[in-house]
Amino acid sequence: MSSLPLRLFAEPQMLAEAAAREVASALEQAVAARGRASIALAGGSTPRLLYERLAETQLAKDLPWDRIEIFFGDERMVGADDPESNYRMARETLFDRLQLSDARIHRIEGELEPELAASRYAEAIAEFLPLDVALLGMGDDGHIASIFSVADLMAEGPVIVTKSPTPPATRVSLSLGVLNQARAIVFLITGAGKAERLAEVWKQRRARTDAQDPTGKLSPAACVRPREGTLSFFVDRAAAARIPPEWILE
Ligand code: 6PG
Repeated sequence: MSSLPLRLFAEPQMLAEAAAREVASALEQAVAARGRASIALAGGSTPRLLYERLAETQLAKDLPWDRIEIFFGDERMVGADDPESNYRMARETLFDRLQLSDARIHRIEGELEPELAASRYAEAIAEFLPLDVALLGMGDDGHIASIFSVADLMAEGPVIVTKSPTPPATRVSLSLGVLNQARAIVFLITGAGKAERLAEVWKQRRARTDAQDPTGKLSPAACVRPREGTLSFFVDRAAAARIPPEWILE
């Protein structure tokens, strides 16, 4: 059985430290190799700790941010200052602290009509694909970015408009195809609330063939399979509590 890339941490703070180092080093290597880098940030609440930690590390402060293009895996269709905005969360925890220039930050314009926001975002990101780093969280229902359903999983094109079961309902998201093209996919999953679903996803990942499963039995988090890139799951002990230990040590 191929080993699955689970990195286990006792506490979310330690996970954030390690993930910050991993992200900073991936970006540094990308700029060294290709002269520039691109990253898609995850939304929700889990990445807050990572962004705050990243903003404090000397490694991050020393990164060539003028060569790094910042995108978002998804956005809620709300204004940039809305408390629900993923852009606002990243601005408060990372951009403002590192005093990053807006010129390199490509937000999904949540205040626009969704299809228009999606097409403008697809245009903005096109020249920076494949992404060097794609950060992802996992919902307790197994969703990733704003990919919730089989239809979302199968949707064509780089950027899709979706409906979330929890408000804000309308979302714009990178597609599974774009995420799977990334050179490095990094999951950040913490908290007991994710434990049951993560164990299910881990079981699906271990059992899955490579064929795309259109039956909907697979959670979106089980469908993330980088074509050529790396995949790592940064998980705290609480979220990993229901995964059989022997699966973790594989
Ligand atoms: C969003 C995210 C979403 C998130 C998961 C986990 O816009 O909410 O992109 O995919 O990563 O829902 O959210 P938490 O980190 O808040 O648990």
